[in-house]
Amino acid sequence: MSIIAIISSPRTGGFGGRLAMRAAEGARGSGREVEVIRLNGLNIRQCQNCEACRNNGGHCVLGDDAAPILEKIRSSEGLIVSGQIRFARIDGALKTFMDRFYSFMTDRSTVLDRGKKLVTILTAGADETNVEKESAEFERMLNQYFLFEPVGRITYLSYLMPADSDFIDETPLMEAYEAGKRM
Ligand SMILES: Cc1cc2nc3c(=O)[nH]c(=O)nc-3n(C[C@H](O)[C@H](O)[C@H](O)COP(=O)(O)O)c2cc1C
Repeated sequence: MSIIAIISSPRTGGFGGRLAMRAAEGARGSGREVEVIRLNGLNIRQCQNCEACRNNGGHCVLGDDAAPILEKIRSSEGLIVSGQIRFARIDGALKTFMDRFYSFMTDRSTVLDRGKKLVTILTAGADETNVEKESAEFERMLNQYFLFEPVGRITYLSYLMPADSDFIDETPLMEAYEAGKRM
């Protein structure tokens, strides 16, 4: 049983990815296995709203890169998920992937086991109020619809600094590590 870490930023060495890797280190420090998956470059189709998953126990029937990731999340103990703010909302790659969680929904609740641990990480250029709002809403959605148990919600402002720059101090990195340890 393991933790799945999803990183949507296409920037190798981006802040969201680095924070997610720290959270993964924390989780490993607590004895968890962690698999890191970057969405960039994967073939991930839009949820077709075909409802096939409603009649097969909640398994997505699309034969793309997302389907096996969804199965891994289903059997995991927790999720680290890291995205960017783009035009005031969660980035499109992550949103398209998250829409595929539709296959985890049933008429009344979800096929996922209650209480999978959740760490969310959301980065933005500068809009602090908005990133806080979006991050809180994202966490609330995963808790309410899919019964995840939040153990850490991290936001970070990059001020449009280059991905590999050292414009990040130990505080958010430690915060991510500690959140990972709680998984
Ligand atoms: C298409 C696009 C739209 C963006 N829109 C916003 C925005 O509305 N508000 C904001 O604060 N930053 C915005 N940004 C900046 C990104 O949020 C920022 O570069 C990103 O969080 C850095 O993440 P990373 O270091 O994890 O790759 C935008 C960036 C792109 C590429």
